[in-house]
Amino acid sequence: MGYFEMTGDLDARAHEILTENDRGGYTIPTKGLYPFQWNWDSAFVALGFATFDQNRAWTEIESLLEGQWENGFLPHIVFRRDDPTYFPGPKEWGTAKHHWIPTSGITQPPVLATVLRELFETGTPDLVRQRMKPLFPKVLAWHAWYHANRAVGNTGMVAIAHPWESGRDNLPDWDAPLGDVDISDLEPYERKDVTHVNQDMRPQQFDYDRYVRLVHFGRDIGWDRDRMVEESPFWVADVGVTSILLRADRDLLALAQVLGDYAAIAQLEAWIAKGEEGIDRLWNDKVFAYTSYNIRRDTRADMVGGGTLLPFYAGVADPNRLDALFAHMDRWWGRCEFGVPSFDPDHKKFDSIRYWRGPIWAVVNWLVARGLSDMGFEARAERVRSNTQTLIENAGFRENFCPATGVGCGGHDFSWTAAIWLNLQHQNRARVAA
Ligand code: DGY
Repeated sequence: MGYFEMTGDLDARAHEILTENDRGGYTIPTKGLYPFQWNWDSAFVALGFATFDQNRAWTEIESLLEGQWENGFLPHIVFRRDDPTYFPGPKEWGTAKHHWIPTSGITQPPVLATVLRELFETGTPDLVRQRMKPLFPKVLAWHAWYHANRAVGNTGMVAIAHPWESGRDNLPDWDAPLGDVDISDLEPYERKDVTHVNQDMRPQQFDYDRYVRLVHFGRDIGWDRDRMVEESPFWVADVGVTSILLRADRDLLALAQVLGDYAAIAQLEAWIAKGEEGIDRLWNDKVFAYTSYNIRRDTRADMVGGGTLLPFYAGVADPNRLDALFAHMDRWWGRCEFGVPSFDPDHKKFDSIRYWRGPIWAVVNWLVARGLSDMGFEARAERVRSNTQTLIENAGFRENFCPATGVGCGGHDFSWTAAIWLNLQHQNRARVAA
């Protein structure tokens, strides 16, 4: 039996998960834990739908963009209905005066433009041109919002105002900056996440108290840009978001060229030049890697993880830094059966099952593999892709996976894990056919 016959059941199950999590034009990440539409989840979900229903893939992006505010901001959650099983819900975010659909007040890693380009290049030409045209200015407006609201001065580095904006919520990089968030006036609240998932696989109370305090800080300043930049108690430049935005700017530039939008082309080229500068500034000679930077304290995190490899995805592969970055990767593979761990397995803060402190995430592996492959490191890319597939074959469509044992962690039947599986299968078939 060939590989594609053996994995046919998994393809069918991945379809089913996307269909079961479809709430009518938008897809929830998983039942129970995440009952609304999440920003980067939906972008990845569109990649999955595109393998069997192009029309539905475009609809996912269109519905996500219904959550966009007039100033271009694209929230990390679009609350399409109330659901008391999730906290913090719409009331905590206080965004009613900003948009007609309740949303959160923070954003998430901007993978959308990259997905848009992928749909454009792999879809039926007439359909994609017609669907892409109205979406392009909206995604461009979100990028403009990013550059105006999350730029670290003129450095090209991109800041996050909440750990959730990194998408890598409880990464140890955020521990020190979170420690500076004063929680003495924290309003009482009840966590809901630990009622859905084993609490050893979730962020700890230290993190959650500060997550909630930061939500209330944003609500209390009315999500005002200037006050956020000047006063947010958490303001950290992230390698992940800086890289993802740079890559997304490059992909949007490719679309602007197709559309012949010269103003957008000039703007995107300027942002790209800045982004390259920003990534360069995040290089840290102490650990020979790109690391996050706490702007408020002018300190670097001195720790490495899966996000450290995302500059490849941004199209950055400085020849003087390759050996050091590959040495980290090889060291991790020496320590763990599977890659890429979300955090350094040799660090004392590594925790193989706790969310972003060690477990492997299919979506980050997809970004890392795409970056390595685009930069010409195909053997490494293939290892990351095949590790991802093996993990899913053995443990199913889990939220994340233990790098030491491959055991599935967090939520079950995750939309984005299903979507990545379908996309990887699609890539494999294309490779076999070529
Ligand atoms: C959560 O875990 O609830 C956060 O919203 C992550 O985005």
